[in-house]
Amino acid sequence: MDVFEGKSWISGQGLVNTCIGIDEGKITAVKKILKGDNHTKFEGIILPSAFDMHVHFRDPGYPHKEDWKTGSECAAAGGVTAVVDMPNTNPFTSDLETFNDKVSTASSKSVVDFGVGVNVEKDLTEQTWFDTIPAAFWKLYPYGISSAEYFSYAKEVLDKTSKPLVIHGEHPDHMHNEPLNELSDHTQNRLIAEPECLASMPSSPYLHVAHLSTLEGLNRMPKLASSEVCPHHLLLNLDNCHSLDCKVDPPLRTKKDNSGLYDAFREGKIPILSSDHAPHTIDEKRSDNPPSGLPGVETMIPLMLNEVSEGRLELSRLVNAMSEAPAERLGLDRGRISEGMPADLIMIDMKNSKPIDLDKLHSKSNWTPFEDWPAIFPSQVYRRGELIAESGEIRQEGGGQNLF
Ligand code: NCD
Ligand code: ZN
Repeated sequence: MDVFEGKSWISGQGLVNTCIGIDEGKITAVKKILKGDNHTKFEGIILPSAFDMHVHFRDPGYPHKEDWKTGSECAAAGGVTAVVDMPNTNPFTSDLETFNDKVSTASSKSVVDFGVGVNVEKDLTEQTWFDTIPAAFWKLYPYGISSAEYFSYAKEVLDKTSKPLVIHGEHPDHMHNEPLNELSDHTQNRLIAEPECLASMPSSPYLHVAHLSTLEGLNRMPKLASSEVCPHHLLLNLDNCHSLDCKVDPPLRTKKDNSGLYDAFREGKIPILSSDHAPHTIDEKRSDNPPSGLPGVETMIPLMLNEVSEGRLELSRLVNAMSEAPAERLGLDRGRISEGMPADLIMIDMKNSKPIDLDKLHSKSNWTPFEDWPAIFPSQVYRRGELIAESGEIRQEGGGQNLF
C-alpha cells in the first residue's frame, strides 16, 4: 500500500490532516495514522482531481487543432484526470462504429480517464443501440437544424432515456454566423439566443444545460434541469476582452452577466464547472471567418484555485463543482477522498500563484485568452494512484480508461 499524508479535503469535514492509503489505484483507507510500503508526505493541500464533462479533443478529424494525446496532456497538467469528449469530431460521434472508434483511439492515446458523448440526430431513439451504447450522455447542437427539429429531438430523447441530454442551449434561429467587425458583434447577434432557447425547453431531470452564459438564461432555466458554467463566462466579458480571438459560443457577455452567474455558481444554483475546451489554431482564429471556441481545460482549475486564494470562492464549492457534482450528474461514484474511490488526487500549494505562461501549456492551439492571468497549477496530479503530471511536466504515456 502507498500512503499519502497531508492536509486533505474530506467531504463534510473540510481540510483535515490525514493519511490516504492507496492500493491498485483505489483509496483503501483514510486514517489519521497509516503505515504503508511507500509513505509520501505532502506540504500543500490534497484535493480530489477534477472531472471536466465538456471538452473537444478534436480526434478524429482535426489533428492540427488537438488530439487525444495533447488534449489529455492539457487536462493532466491542469489537474483534470477525467473528461467527457463532445461528438462534433469528423466524423461526428453518432453511431456504434464512430463511438467504438473514438473509444479505441482515446484508450490508446489519452493519459486521463474519459467518457464519450453521442450526437443527437434524426431517429436517434429508433436505433437498435439507443440506450445500450455506453455513452456518457447525448449531446444536442443547434447548428444546421430547424428550431422545430431541435425542440422535437430534445423532447423525444428526454421522453425515452434516463441518460443525461446535454444541450447547447442557444436557439437554432439565432445561430447564423455573419462576418464580424468586433467581438461585441457576435454577442449582439446572439443577444436573446440563450434565454429564448431555455424558455422553450421541456423541463426534465435528465436535461443538462451546457455553458450557461447569461443572467437571463439562468432565470429561464427549465425546472429540474442541471447546468454548468465555464471560467470564461465567469471571468471574461466585453470590457476586459476585446480580441476577436475570443469569439466563442455562447459569446462573452457583460460584467453583470459574469457576476450574476458567479453568484449562482457560489450558491450551487449552477452546480458544475466545465471548460468547453474548444481549441482552434491561432491562424484559424485570425482568418476572415474565425471559428468559435477557446482552449481551457488546462487553465480551468488553476484559475479557479486562484479565485479561492483571493477569497472570491469557497474551496468547498470549487471541489464540489469540479469533482463531486459532475461525477454525480453522470452517475459515477467518484470525485471524493474516501474509501473505495479511485485515487484521483491533486497536490496544491495555495501560495504558488503565478502568471499563466503560454509556453508551458500543452494545447496544439498554442494560445490562451488567459495569458499572464494569476493561476495556481497543481504540483502533482495522480490518476488512479499513478503520478501523471508534476509541475506541468507529463509523467505517463496514455493509460486512460473509459469510465462508462
Ligand atoms: C465549439 C467547438 O469549437 O467545437 N465551439 C464553441 O465556441 N463552444 C462548438 C460548440 O460547442 O458550440
Ligand atoms: Zn462545447
